[in-house]
Amino acid sequence: MDLKTYLDTTADQVDRLIFRYFGNSAGELGAATAHLLLAGGKRLRPAMLLLSADAVRKGSSIDVMPAALALELTHSFTLIHDDIMDADEVRRGVQTVHTRWDEPTAILAGDVLFASAFEFISLSDAPDAAKVRAVSMLARTCVEICEGQHMDISFESREDVLEGEYLKMVEKKTGALYAAAAGIGSILAGGNPAYTDALYHFGRGIGMAFQIQDDIIDLVASAEVSGKDRASDLREGKKTIISIQAMEKGLDLSSCRRDLSPSEIDQVIGQLEELGVLDYARDMARELIMNGKQRISILPASVEKDLLLELADHFLARSY
Ligand code: IPE
Ligand code: IPE
Ligand code: MG
Ligand code: MG
Ligand code: MG
Repeated sequence: MDLKTYLDTTADQVDRLIFRYFGNSAGELGAATAHLLLAGGKRLRPAMLLLSADAVRKGSSIDVMPAALALELTHSFTLIHDDIMDADEVRRGVQTVHTRWDEPTAILAGDVLFASAFEFISLSDAPDAAKVRAVSMLARTCVEICEGQHMDISFESREDVLEGEYLKMVEKKTGALYAAAAGIGSILAGGNPAYTDALYHFGRGIGMAFQIQDDIIDLVASAEVSGKDRASDLREGKKTIISIQAMEKGLDLSSCRRDLSPSEIDQVIGQLEELGVLDYARDMARELIMNGKQRISILPASVEKDLLLELADHFLARSY
């Protein structure tokens, strides 16, 4: 099976679960909670969890579907809160929750998804001891995401953020959840500690690359393609590998902290390409993907292992 077919199939399975459990959510808070879930999304974290489960024990993915849903709920919770922090108006091609409703409702909708994630992970078909470890990993991951998001916000008021600080920030805000997706898939499927550790670090590394590619997409993709506000990172003064490397090359992007027109954005892209900033970011992501893939070399050969390796490459090749 090719990766695209696999991702389409798992996205359909996750969509069906979402529809079943959140399709008729009652009341305004229910509607706000379901809003982004029902708007789609690539469902890559569930795919990572299911592939990891099958890579350590073939056929186990069916037992861990509730955990796959739990990862998507956790992700959606972080997105709703992230859109408040980043003052964004569009996500997954629809209005963000705090724009469509209000901030208190968006905070609560995120909280509902956060709590529901733990409820669903407990519904997986796995030994209790494995489920306790999975719940514990997800909880620790949520703490890390908060730490990463706090770093992201605190960097907005600093102009001296180092590349190493940026990498730590993306490791926590984005790498940690991909690490958990892969690690939890392995834990619930009964993977041995070496496989779980390998998958966890695979997810962590390629998750960091995923964020670097997201930073590129923020700049180069139209809102129609990405489904998100374009150049939101420039507007908010985010310290991404792009802005840090630009600064290093003598290009200060702080004058871009406002709504930019598409032609102004294209002009910035031209300058960045000329200085080699975007290539620098792509190279860094490529390196992380390569090292991440190396981590799972200890897994036995399987279709799912091959798909995980392809998924890693897809994290950089994707255009939205
Ligand atoms: C967006 O994640 C947030 C980041 C961690 C960069 P995705 O790009 O996976 O968003 P959806 O789920 O497909 O909408
Ligand atoms: C957020 O990073 C990662 C999360 C933990 C939600 P971004 O702020 O770049 O994500 P997008 O671009 O809004 O999806
Ligand atoms: Mg954001
Ligand atoms: Mg953000
Ligand atoms: Mg982004």
